[in-house]
Amino acid sequence: MTGETGHKLRGDYSRMRPDYTVDQEWEKYSPAEHELWRRLYRRQESLVAKYACGEFIEIMERLDFGAGIPRFDAINEKLARATSWQLVAVPGLLPDLTFFDHLANRRFPVTVWLRDPEEFDYIVEPDIFHDFFGHAPMLFNPVFADYMQAYGRGGIKAHELGAIEMLARLYWYTVEFGLIDTPQGIRTYGAGILSSGGEIAYCIDSPDPNRIGFDLLRIMQTRYKIDTFQETYFVIRDFQQLFDATAPDFTPYYGELRGREPYAPSTVLATDKVYHRGTAPQRAA
Ligand SMILES: [Fe+2]
Repeated sequence: MTGETGHKLRGDYSRMRPDYTVDQEWEKYSPAEHELWRRLYRRQESLVAKYACGEFIEIMERLDFGAGIPRFDAINEKLARATSWQLVAVPGLLPDLTFFDHLANRRFPVTVWLRDPEEFDYIVEPDIFHDFFGHAPMLFNPVFADYMQAYGRGGIKAHELGAIEMLARLYWYTVEFGLIDTPQGIRTYGAGILSSGGEIAYCIDSPDPNRIGFDLLRIMQTRYKIDTFQETYFVIRDFQQLFDATAPDFTPYYGELRGREPYAPSTVLATDKVYHRGTAPQRAA
């Protein structure tokens, strides 16, 4: 298996089942790995209090998984009661269709291995800290949980229609790097931000990136960067807006977008609703 940048994936894919799942083997994590988890968690905990949306903070506090690498089976009991989702252990990144199939069946794949201490600030491939800390709490939110399942179903269809690249931009700009407008100001619900020590403050406090109101077709037409902080973030009003906008069949959207040149990540259009830090949206000049 190779990742998006062509490098060899580091997980152990030799003992997985046909759907790419493995056993978590929680007993095998070392004391040093649990300690590294605690350090990662402590750093994010204080940042999340300031920059994450209320939904994320509330679940994170309730789940209380900061004492060491969590056991998926213990979390799954609570998750099943909340939204009927399950975490499944995987060796790392998965083929698109396998990933979509898990989501469509309300299973979220979580990588079993933890980064090395020298990767405290940055890791190329998603590890258990990113996958669990960033993604698991939001699966407890009923509307977001339904959005994730719909995304998986949409992914299977996009695969048939040759439109995965367009759909992947939606995942990137919402599930991984999404912002949300709240009465307390702009906050984040994106896993790539929530598990990052640097981007979480940058995406909200920095004057540099664009913050643009959510627009489904605009997002599916916008390229993204995978090796730097984002140049543009998209802001939803609430999770219902995200769910409703993505509910229709995307087939005509793909047809409409197919012939168009994608926008660069830094593009701002005259039709964009541009948010300035902590303020209501304004029309770009
Ligand atoms: Fe992720």
